[in-house]
Amino acid sequence: MSKIKVAVIGCGTIANNAHIPSYLHNPEAEIKYFCDIIPERADQAVEKYGCGKAVYDYREILNDPEIEAVSVCTPNHVHAPISIDFLKAGKHVLCEKPAARTYQEALTMLEAQKETGKVLNIGVVNRFNEGVNKIKKMIDEGVLGEVYQVYVSFRCHRMIPGLGGDYTTKEIAGGGVLIDWGVHFLDIVMYCCGDPKARTVSAETFGKLGKNIPAYVYEEMWAGPPKEDGIFDVEDSVIGMVRTDGPVITVNGAWAQNIGEKEMFIDFIGDKGGVRLRYGKEFTFYGTEDGKLISNVTPKPESNHFQTEIDAFLRCIQTGEKAPSHIEINIKTSKLMQALYDSAAQHQELNVED
Ligand SMILES: NC(=O)c1ccc[n+]([C@@H]2O[C@H](COP(=O)([O-])OP(=O)(O)OC[C@H]3O[C@@H](n4cnc5c(N)ncnc54)[C@H](O)[C@@H]3O)[C@@H](O)[C@H]2O)c1
Repeated sequence: MSKIKVAVIGCGTIANNAHIPSYLHNPEAEIKYFCDIIPERADQAVEKYGCGKAVYDYREILNDPEIEAVSVCTPNHVHAPISIDFLKAGKHVLCEKPAARTYQEALTMLEAQKETGKVLNIGVVNRFNEGVNKIKKMIDEGVLGEVYQVYVSFRCHRMIPGLGGDYTTKEIAGGGVLIDWGVHFLDIVMYCCGDPKARTVSAETFGKLGKNIPAYVYEEMWAGPPKEDGIFDVEDSVIGMVRTDGPVITVNGAWAQNIGEKEMFIDFIGDKGGVRLRYGKEFTFYGTEDGKLISNVTPKPESNHFQTEIDAFLRCIQTGEKAPSHIEINIKTSKLMQALYDSAAQHQELNVED
């Protein structure tokens, strides 16, 4: 069978750290194009990986009949238009997370997927993480009993990414820490808990520490350095509570806050047992056995979930199977995030329609 020819759109951090190496490791795939609007980035990729051709406008690739699949690794504001253009050109798409800036925009992607019948997976990579899948299985099999509460925490001290740039500009990113980190955390909760339906949502967002860009003091800044004359109009922290037909979910997120501790975990709290998943690391199960308290640690998986994500995308193309990151499934996470943003914008609790 001939290899699946792919194009990588956007040759920045996630493309170089995850998508490109994973395609290169998969014997079924061949990268034909590296595309970036910054020409040097596309050129550098061709040079570094020793394959493919550099292009600077993705529309040049749309009509290449050899291209079967693309990875969209651009900033959030162009996820929807680029993904939709490729779907309509008959290509399969793996689009980085979040699907889009808003639920409405994500729905247009879902519509294009349905119209064309092509694969559209979203880069919610934790759905391919072995540890996350073990937790999902434990919940499905009732090991935790009734999971009545999920506590979600993604809080850092001073870690706003690229202050003033794409990540902190609402027009580009759609939002701040909730859409950037929260999407991964909420997506894990939705996946492990079987997509509970939200009933009411209450949230507040804050944009406090990033608002004076030149005065911002930080411990770490990925996607930096800061742009002193740039834009900061997104939230750097968020709190929220969601009542669902399953567990109540509480959300505490901060790219930056004046607390010098880092908390990156999800607690799944059931009436028989509980699990704390340390994001990207190990998880601990707490329960009882023979009248005694027990706690068992499952170490961080050795497998690379980005590789599993790309392998699954290629398999979906070959076999027609539907991955757990398919837009039709992931759209529920977009809906939940939108409800949190809407509640915060209106400063009140909202009912969520089915
Ligand atoms: N799955 C994860 O864990 C994870 C981690 C990091 C980033 N991401 C997501 O990946 C996306 C990219 O993030 P990043 O950190 O790699 O950003 P980045 O800025 O490092 O890279 C994005 C690249 O896209 C290029 N680009 C912008 N518009 C384009 C267009 N119209 N056509 C072609 N190229 C274009 C930019 O020039 C840039 O080189 C974001 O949506 C982000 O949320 C996901």
